[in-house]
Amino acid sequence: MPRIPVFAANWKMHKTVLETVAWIREFAALSKALSADAAEIIVAPPFTAIAAAAETARTATVCVAGQNLHFEREGAFTGEVSGAMLKDAGADFVIIGHSERRRLFGDTDAWVNRKLIAARLAELTPIVCIGETLEERERGETLAVLDRQLKSGLDGSSGDQIASLILAYEPVWAIGTGKNATAAEAGEAHTHIRKRLREWFGGAHGDRCRILYGGSVKPENIRELIGLEDVDGALVGGASLEARSFAAIVQNAQ
Ligand code: PGA
Repeated sequence: MPRIPVFAANWKMHKTVLETVAWIREFAALSKALSADAAEIIVAPPFTAIAAAAETARTATVCVAGQNLHFEREGAFTGEVSGAMLKDAGADFVIIGHSERRRLFGDTDAWVNRKLIAARLAELTPIVCIGETLEERERGETLAVLDRQLKSGLDGSSGDQIASLILAYEPVWAIGTGKNATAAEAGEAHTHIRKRLREWFGGAHGDRCRILYGGSVKPENIRELIGLEDVDGALVGGASLEARSFAAIVQNAQ
């Protein structure tokens, strides 16, 4: 079964409700010719704009994701949002373990695992981010770091759950720096991730999981990245803030 490519826009802490609605309308107008079988499009606005995004996206073939969730369903966790709340607001996906969460807010592999379980309970499709820092790459630890993040982050998952999961390989040194991984670097990481998924969760399941590349993806570099066998789309930060450049990324990948 072919893997339908996924293009996800991670807006981070950007955009008001009005800006969100305008972006989705503009993107829909720009990508009218795009068929749903050609690509799945996901936007991850800030929590405050999820409901408006979901409402606007109903008539555009765009799905909505949260950028994070707490692993409890409810409780005394000031400032946090649960999977059930994201689902209630209209999200169908959620990003888990983004490197900014890991670096700035202390998310660990164990937390990623708990959040993954919580996402599934809330019927949200998880987009789990993994990736090495520059220091880890320079020490030759890239593949070992990916193994650790995959092993603890995905612990307890069934083959079917892996098949429906979205993973994002995002080398930390490439995020927001304008310096994307080369095709050789991305190819090595993606092939390794696929190999591990096949070994640990079964060949057929590992083959169905979509693995996105993230880190300074732009209209100019998507074609080379998407051409790699195990790259099934992109998680885009900076270049997703303008509907026009995100639409160009999706278009150039076809
Ligand atoms: P970037 O961000 O495209 O701005 O590098 C990617 C991400 O953080 O998901």
